[in-house]
Order: sequence, then C-alpha cells, then structure tokens
Amino acid sequence: MMKAIVYWLDDRIGFSTTFKPLIEHPVPPTGWDYTLGSAALIAFTVQVVTGVALAFSYVPTPDHAYESLDFITHDAILGNIVRGVHFWGASAMVLLVCAHAAQVFLIGAFKFPREVNWLSGTLLLVFTFGMAFTGQLLRWNQDAYWAVVVGASQAARAPLIGDFLTGILFAGNQVGGATLTRFYATHVFMIPAIIFGLLGLHLYLVIRHGVSEPPVPGVRVDRLTYRQRYEELIHKIGVPFWPDAGWKDVVFALAVGSIVLILAAVLGPRDLGNKADPTVIQAYPRPDWYFLWYFALLALIPAGIEDWFIIGFPLVLGVLFVILPFIAPFGERSPRRRPWAVGVVLVTAFSIGALVEYGSNAPWSPDLSTLTLPPSVTQGLTASQLQGAQSFQQRGCINCHTIAGVGGQRGPELTHIGTSLSSNELTWRILNGGRNMPAYGTTLSPQELANLVDFLGTRTR
Ligand code: HEC
Repeated sequence: MMKAIVYWLDDRIGFSTTFKPLIEHPVPPTGWDYTLGSAALIAFTVQVVTGVALAFSYVPTPDHAYESLDFITHDAILGNIVRGVHFWGASAMVLLVCAHAAQVFLIGAFKFPREVNWLSGTLLLVFTFGMAFTGQLLRWNQDAYWAVVVGASQAARAPLIGDFLTGILFAGNQVGGATLTRFYATHVFMIPAIIFGLLGLHLYLVIRHGVSEPPVPGVRVDRLTYRQRYEELIHKIGVPFWPDAGWKDVVFALAVGSIVLILAAVLGPRDLGNKADPTVIQAYPRPDWYFLWYFALLALIPAGIEDWFIIGFPLVLGVLFVILPFIAPFGERSPRRRPWAVGVVLVTAFSIGALVEYGSNAPWSPDLSTLTLPPSVTQGLTASQLQGAQSFQQRGCINCHTIAGVGGQRGPELTHIGTSLSSNELTWRILNGGRNMPAYGTTLSPQELANLVDFLGTRTR
C-alpha cells in the first residue's frame, strides 16, 4: 500500500526522474569555500521565514509600526527570538553574499562560460543591500528614521537625478507615512520576488555550466577547450553533489544558523530606542553597519566632490562589476597567479573594515551636545529672544542650520535669515517644514514659536 502511494506520487511528480538527477549531478570535489553561496541561500530562506512570522504582527503605519515591534519584542511568544534572528540573519546574509562574491572573484569562477552567473549574482548582491536598506526604516525608531533621512538628503543632492531619486524612494519630499508604506511594500513584496526570480536563474546556471572546478595554477580558461576539459574532469573525478559535496554545505549552514540563533538569544535584536519623531533630533543617524562604511566615506571625502561622489561611486562600482567578466573572460583562474585580484579583495575588505570603525565613532552629522550658538549671536538679546535662541539649540534646528558659522549643513544657512524672511514667513516655514525639514506645527507651543521667530528676526545683516 505504502509502496503504491510512493510510486504513484513519484510517477506524477517525477522526483526520481527530475529532482534526483539534479541533486546527484556530478560536481568536482570542492573545498569549504564553495559553501558560501549555499549558506547565503539558506540565510535568505531564514529571512523569508522569520520575515513572514514578523509580518503577522507588524503594522506598517507610522502610528503603529514602532508599537507593534515593541509588542513583538517584549510580549509576543518567542517574538524577541524571531526579531533577533531576522536582525542578525540580515547581517549574516549580507556578509555571506559579499564573501561569496569575493570568493568567486578570487578563484576566477566568473570567467567563461559563467559570465551570466556573475551578472545575476551582481544583481543579487544589489538587491540584498536593497533589503537591508528598506528593512531599516521599518523599525520606525529614531535612529533608523534619521539614518534614512540622512540617506534621503544625500540622494537628493545627487546631480541631475537627485529630485527624481528622492521622489521615487520616499514617495514625496519627506520621510513620512507614505515612505513607510513604500519601503514596506518594497521590502516584503517587490525585492523578495525579484530575489526569488534571480535565484532561480542563478541556480539554473550553476546546473547548466556545472560547479566551477577548483583552480589550478597554470591551467588557463580558453573558449575552445574549456568545456571539453571540464567534461573530462567531471567524468574522471566528479562526485555526486549529494551527499559527497553537499554535506559540507549542510554543516556550514548549520554552523552559521547556530551563530545567528545564539546571537539572537543572547544579545537579542537591536534595541528599539525611541519612536521616530521628525521634530526631535535626539538620535544618532547611524545606519546599520552594512551602510556605515559608505556614510563614513562620504564624511571623509572633500565636500566639493561629494555631490558627484554620492551617485558616481555606486555607478562606477556597478560598472566595474558588470564589465569584469568581459574584460577578463579567459586566462588564469588561480589566485596565486592573479595577485592583483587578491590585492583588490584585501584592500577592499580592509578599507570597509576601517570605514565601519571610523563611521561608528565619527559624527558626520554634528553632535547635539557640543553645538551652541556663539556669544556674538546671543549677546544683547531680549529675554524672549534668548529663549528662542535656546529653542533653536534644543529643538535641533542647529543640527541642520548654520548661524554665524556654527551648525549643520542639511538646511540653508540662517545667519541673515531676518533680512530675507518676514516674521510671517518665518512662522510659516517653521510650522510647515519643507523639503527635508520637519514640520514643527504640532510640537512647538505658540509662545516657543513666537520666541523662535523673534530670535531669527534678529539675524539680519
Ligand atoms: C532635518 C534638518 C532640519 C531641521 C531639524 C530644521 N530644519 Fe529648517 N530647513 C531645513 C531644510 C532642508 C530647509 C529648506 C527647506 C526647503 O527648501 O523646502 C529648511 C528651511 C528652513 C527655513 C527657511 C529658510 C529659507 O532660507 O527659506 C527656516 C526659517 C528654517 N528652516 C528654520 C528652522 C527652525 C527654526 C528649526 C528648528 C525649530 C529648523 N529649521 C529645523 C532643514 C531642517
């Protein structure tokens, strides 16, 4: 009876004719470095599973996003673990995808005939970062919110396409409810769907061209002979993927999974901190580490080229990834014969490490506590104007606006704003905010607002 059912199922599904040959297809004997890709795939699967679990309780609206995560973290059964695994799993996935790309680059597996494997992998890398970026805002806490606002102001400064970019990314001029909805849809529907599709293509290509053989110094890739040599090699020393090679993938994936689980259980997910509030800048707008290096890089380069760099750097990087398999399709694969490839990976890894380190210490947006208006500004003010000057510091205006050389650069300089704007106009600007400026209408008392306007009115030439 049992046998009959199994036979029936197998006949209708075709397991033994289609899937069995797939998982038993011959591969060259490979080392542990070949397990990075499959571990990235497992990490993605874990993200999907924990992400779906989170979506059961998460509410993607500005009023409830933070609260629902707070509930998941503190009250839901195992919620803390699920969020923790999703949080650490994201880091694991980013690390594994990058490590896999580096490994493929080092052993020259992007070369003929696997160029499209590399290109689809490049897209997978891009969309992995897309997941990381969109996921961050969903926390809807201060740090994440401001990190995205900083990202927004940077995107907005990109020449030519800045406005277009922010419009698309943020569904408007400000990071608000519409942005959250857009990020949520992108994070849970759009990018995962794209990743699934790309993974299908990527894995199909791995089967089609076979797993690349570990490189041997002196053996060169050649368009005319490579495929035949690969066939012969597989014929001679090939082993079935499962179980001869696949067990390593299982062991490595289990190890990574255990580390993620332990981190989730011991350290838990990232602290939620305070709920996002566009009118309070008591936050460290630090993105999660996988973007930290880029923010740090932007803080380090000369201000003059920053606008072009913001858009130019990712563009150049993307172009380099795309043209790589076409400028070096043949020749040596072994890293021992490609010292420059080893150099590129080492320098990149070292720079990113150093920049993450720098980024987690250096304030690229001015530090709240140290910013005070200079005495030359506060001298000779009336009591209410002084109050206004104080609000200007406490409300974080100074973080975005410079007066007399002190303050941030995100908004226009206000040193002489009293000359160009009337009190009515000043009031209107502060109440309504603007592009990348929060609206203060709901947080300032009429008196505080009046004092602020009074103070800014004194800033004349
Ligand atoms: C997150 C950064 C940020 C914060 C915080 C911020 N602003 Fe702004 N502010 C901006 C930006 C950006 C603009 C330009 C808006 C536009 O052009 O639509 C702006 C514009 C203005 C203007 C109009 C300037 C002009 O030249 O037209 C005034 C006045 C102003 N802000 C005052 C304030 C005051 C007062 C506060 C604190 C209560 C404050 N801002 C807080 C970013 C900020």
